[in-house]
Amino acid sequence: ASAQIGVIGLAVMGSNLARNLARHGYTVALYNRTFAKTEELVSAYGDEGTFVASQELADFVASLERPRKMIIMVKAGGPTDAVIESLIPLLEEGDIIVDGGNAHYEDTRRREAYLRDKGLHFVGAGISGGEEGALNGPSIMPGGPAESYVTLGPILEDISAKVDGEPCCTHIGPDGAGHFVKMVHNGIEYADMQFIAEAYDILRAAGLEAGELAEVFTEWNTGDLDSYLIEITAEVLRHVDAETGKPFVDVVADAAAQKGTGQWTVQIALQLGVPVNTIAESVFARSTSGHIALREASRAALQGPARAAVDAADRAALVENVRQALWASKVVAYAQGLDQIRTASEEFGWDIDIAGVAKIWRAGCIIRARLLERIRSEYAAHNLTTLLEAPSVAAGLESSQDGWRAAVAHAVANGVPVPGFSAALAYYDTVRAERLPASLVQGLRDFFGAHTYNRVDRPGVFHTEWSGDRSESDQG
Ligand code: 6PG
Repeated sequence: ASAQIGVIGLAVMGSNLARNLARHGYTVALYNRTFAKTEELVSAYGDEGTFVASQELADFVASLERPRKMIIMVKAGGPTDAVIESLIPLLEEGDIIVDGGNAHYEDTRRREAYLRDKGLHFVGAGISGGEEGALNGPSIMPGGPAESYVTLGPILEDISAKVDGEPCCTHIGPDGAGHFVKMVHNGIEYADMQFIAEAYDILRAAGLEAGELAEVFTEWNTGDLDSYLIEITAEVLRHVDAETGKPFVDVVADAAAQKGTGQWTVQIALQLGVPVNTIAESVFARSTSGHIALREASRAALQGPARAAVDAADRAALVENVRQALWASKVVAYAQGLDQIRTASEEFGWDIDIAGVAKIWRAGCIIRARLLERIRSEYAAHNLTTLLEAPSVAAGLESSQDGWRAAVAHAVANGVPVPGFSAALAYYDTVRAERLPASLVQGLRDFFGAHTYNRVDRPGVFHTEWSGDRSESDQG
């Protein structure tokens, strides 16, 4: 036994993670169902470090130092369970299985309980940063038993991204906490991308070309919007299709795909009663884009408004309004995602440190952004119910709101769909409202279904005799 850690599943994420570990001086055990993949990795990158390749899972397990640590990088769902089942008879008490895939946190909770029963540690770890991150430093969100973090944590921290030498990896909380946080990360990723797409769409409709927009995003990336996704947006917009000479964005089919983590975020938010309308609209926007028949039928039947031309003089103002809409909406999406994490943490007793989450999202992951340092410091300094109440955030929203409203109004007047921006703005106006028309909804519910209501001026549960003399009775 000579390997300090192993990787099972050597598709691109798995092999890049294995190489990252090897480059950091760890001896890495390798196992893949088809041995040819393992051999390929060793022959191409064997000189980057020390690998121990095994053809049989039993040999792989035997090559690991105890307590054994192995990261499973296979397809989420059935394949993960299959690997776990084949590992169980080969492992001994205290060994640690890490699932580095995008697993559903409920699966992770189930697996953790199941393996704990057998004396094994199961760590569901969210790993973000794509292929490049896995190789050069991802953001890592491990859950599972705190005890396993003592030996596993230092290795994961070592290979994670760093901000001023501080690792983008921390123990998130027990059982499914890590995968839950990764799931919400992805939900925010969906919203971030939807907002970027809407910003692009408003400005493209106002007459800016893809190449000009690449410059706009490059400029935005030097300010408060500074983030990985803004940076790569500029690159994608600048890219010209070699075959047609057209902007790349114009030759890509406009139906966005998804693998499910955004949808999970919204499903679970509904169960937990956490309003994440920006993330929900982002998931719906992707699925709507793929509803080809719906779009064709609607396109044939429905008219939009005449689009007003935006002259060069007004463009600069519109660009600035859209920038503010993008920043403010992004803040709202982070607020909603963090609210979901806080609520789940209370629900499941995970005791998640939100400042710690923001801290490890500052680099390595897909949603890394300048904003995250502000979020980290605000959560570290204040006990926040919502990110939106943090002093510097509230001030930023106040100074952005005129531009934000103007951008949404411009989009609405010109028939450019902005489900993300307008959901974010609706949330902002809803949560800050003195009174909501929910009172009328309660009145209607009581009218047709005797569903009762509370009063603002005294305690009790009331019903009005709507079909009778309209007298009120206390049902409490
Ligand atoms: C990451 C990404 C990664 C994956 C998304 C893509 O953090 O590295 O989030 O996990 O690229 O899950 O999701 P969709 O295919 O659903 O867009």
